[in-house]
Amino acid sequence: MRWGRTSGGPCVSVRVPAKLNLFLSVRGRRPDGYHELVTVFQSVSLYDRVRAGLIGPPGQGHHPAARRRMRVALWHDAGPGVPSGTENLAVRAARALGSAAGVIDLAFVDARALRPADPEVDHASSPYTVIDLRKSIPVGAGMAGGSADAAAALVALNELWACELSRDDLRAVAAHIGSDVPFCVVGGTALATGRGTALAQVLCRGTFHWVVCTADQPLPTADVYRSWDHNCTVNEVQPDAVVQALRTTDPEALGAALHNDLEPAAFALRPQLREQRDALLDAGALGAVLSGSGPTLLALTESAEAATGVCKLMESDFHSVRVATSPAGGPELHPC
Ligand code: C5P
Repeated sequence: MRWGRTSGGPCVSVRVPAKLNLFLSVRGRRPDGYHELVTVFQSVSLYDRVRAGLIGPPGQGHHPAARRRMRVALWHDAGPGVPSGTENLAVRAARALGSAAGVIDLAFVDARALRPADPEVDHASSPYTVIDLRKSIPVGAGMAGGSADAAAALVALNELWACELSRDDLRAVAAHIGSDVPFCVVGGTALATGRGTALAQVLCRGTFHWVVCTADQPLPTADVYRSWDHNCTVNEVQPDAVVQALRTTDPEALGAALHNDLEPAAFALRPQLREQRDALLDAGALGAVLSGSGPTLLALTESAEAATGVCKLMESDFHSVRVATSPAGGPELHPC
């Protein structure tokens, strides 16, 4: 996409990290169908980049509250596993922000209608916002890739449309888009309760080193929660040991404390995940755990060198293995 070709319009770019769950306890099924969670989120150094730009006749005001109309189109560089229409969480983020900012007429348009030479675009009566996703976070992997894109779209469009919502306001909008989106708006380290949307910041000193091991087939989150309903019961395990290990930067203690109640649910659907997790421990990881609802497995190591070593040992066992560090901060806004 050639930004501003027709308008010289503004463009912003947001780099947004993936998330890990260092601890995830399921406290039961709620009346609304979701599950009550106690979880510790941490952002990790795998990033998507979301650019948002305006195309339209020069001189038009772009503030959505002023124009009351906006057309939104989406591009992405990922395969068919990432939706290209209104089901994409970045588009849902645009809608949610538009509605919070008072846009009364926000329409999604097919990105193919936005060829720069198209006279219809040059003479459009209302501006187009184009959202362009560059994906690097694994898709359908339990690392909140779609939620991260939604969070980045909120941050980008808040700037582009001059909505002037605070990060706290954006967090409130984010909760309507998905359970992981509020955390992705803030990043860092947080203890979450409820659906995962009520957040309290957690102190984390230092840096932790990971091997992120992905599978070639995604595992739908809803299927894993359904499997939890059939195969698991509530337990009351507490996150204290994880919180303490983060405070004291103790990778050995963190490795021992990593916990995810969704593991038995995901392992019932993909039995090889259990063997792969055990193989990561045999390869020298301090701890290994399913990431969110999976199927990504995370191995914690004591250093960057140890992470590279585990990566080399395990690369033939997974679709891809990557080293990463945590925490990784939150979404960062840049000019295009
Ligand atoms: O909130 P989000 O749309 O990301 O959730 C995807 C699916 O994961 C939900 O439809 C639900 O089946 C499941 N889920 C859940 N409890 C949560 C979070 C997600 O049951 N706390």
